[in-house]
Amino acid sequence: MLTIYTFSSECPDFRALTQWLAWQGVAYNEHDLSDPMVMKQVQAQYGDQIAPITVNGEWFTSGPFEGQKPDIEVRLGQVGCSEPIASAPMQSPLVHLPQAGQIIELEPGQTILAGALAKGVPFPHCCRSGQCGQCKSRLIEGKVLLLDHTEFALSREEKADGQILACCAVPQGPVSVEWLDKPDHPNRKLQCRVSAIEALTHDIVRIRLDLGGQPFSFSAGQHARISLGGLPARDYSMANCPDQNELEFHIRHVPDGKTSSFIHSKLNPDDSLTLEGPFGTSHLRQDHSGPILAVAGGSGLAPIHSIVSTALELGMEQPIHVYFGARAERDLYMLDRFQLLTDRHPNLRFMPVLSEQPSEHFRTGIVSAAIAEDLDRLQDWKAYVSGPPPMVKATMLVLAAAGLESRNLHADVFSTPVER
Ligand SMILES: Cc1cc2nc3c(=O)[nH]c(=O)nc-3n(C[C@H](O)[C@H](O)[C@H](O)COP(=O)(O)OP(=O)(O)OC[C@H]3O[C@@H](n4cnc5c(N)ncnc54)[C@H](O)[C@@H]3O)c2cc1C
Ligand code: FES
Repeated sequence: MLTIYTFSSECPDFRALTQWLAWQGVAYNEHDLSDPMVMKQVQAQYGDQIAPITVNGEWFTSGPFEGQKPDIEVRLGQVGCSEPIASAPMQSPLVHLPQAGQIIELEPGQTILAGALAKGVPFPHCCRSGQCGQCKSRLIEGKVLLLDHTEFALSREEKADGQILACCAVPQGPVSVEWLDKPDHPNRKLQCRVSAIEALTHDIVRIRLDLGGQPFSFSAGQHARISLGGLPARDYSMANCPDQNELEFHIRHVPDGKTSSFIHSKLNPDDSLTLEGPFGTSHLRQDHSGPILAVAGGSGLAPIHSIVSTALELGMEQPIHVYFGARAERDLYMLDRFQLLTDRHPNLRFMPVLSEQPSEHFRTGIVSAAIAEDLDRLQDWKAYVSGPPPMVKATMLVLAAAGLESRNLHADVFSTPVER
């Protein structure tokens, strides 16, 4: 069997390689070089010449997968793992989605989620990269190849129970699949007017959208898809409490990012944009009575603010601990707002943590490490985590080590399309 070593299974080129292998029907073993034990064994066997993608210890590939593909095809043929791509059978599996009342045809190698979204099916999802578990589904019929995903997103027991992640499932023939999440709110597509834009930090803006009286219900913590200016649609989380006439978003400028750059440099009050949603299952669970941990990184504060404000408005009285991870003081925002909330609600604790700047005023270090220092028994807690993929991943590890059950962890991974 083919053996692949990687430093990061989230690397887009690594994902492209594994998807392509799945399409070719090539089985493989994957080993994580970030695990020091694995690294030690591999170095003992092959020396130091390990690149981000190393196949069978002898092919060193790095850089964009597309550029490497011809070489990989030839070498796969040489070791008898596969035919070159030109002669690979073209398969277009059919996927039956009973909840949508549709049978869709996938591109070869396409995941069920990617194919469903491309056909406009409102399949529940968030990260699209096997990290959050929001696309968890039941495989009613057929066989799929499951690409790399976290244990949190889909546990061994769930797998044994016939569950899959649609964002990681490449059908190996016709399949029938049912998503597990039952949406609480109807999916809507609306034209909205920008009512205000203001800077929150040097790279985060707040935009407010006037719904013009159109209905748009959502649960605190959910997100919507925004499209404007002919640019690719992107997901942004609502920062306000549900049932208001306006929606609030906090949008960070991603360097060279298409949509966020447009929003930061060209969007003006009174412009109109298209909003679709709500999406996401990482929302406030009102029936939970144990303590709540809410962790935000950067503009991940948007859904956390919505969740915490809503919980307090609803009169939830259990301890609520909010951790806000940022690089430096200039990246912190809404401190006044959280001060006001902590003044009013003795059950709320708010802890900003700076990772890259010594500070006299704020705690410093990695936000997940701060949580590990402060909290160790999270058995009856519920956690909401939102922000960039590395921060969410590190936090998930800490929370699992502190005893948080995976059913009590609700994570929104702000992955960009190239990270999927
Ligand atoms: C569920 C969810 C909720 C989210 N909520 C929020 C939120 O509330 N606030 C927020 O600020 N963000 C949020 N995000 C992130 C947001 O959806 C966008 O991903 C983000 O704004 C970047 O979009 P963009 O079009 O500006 O960047 P993109 O154009 O997608 O680029 C992203 C990065 O990738 C690089 N890049 C682009 N193409 C390539 C390529 N071919 N090769 C290598 N690198 C490339 C770019 O240089 C850039 O650095 C959320 C994401 C998800 C999934
Ligand atoms: S695990 Fe599939 S969308 Fe996140």
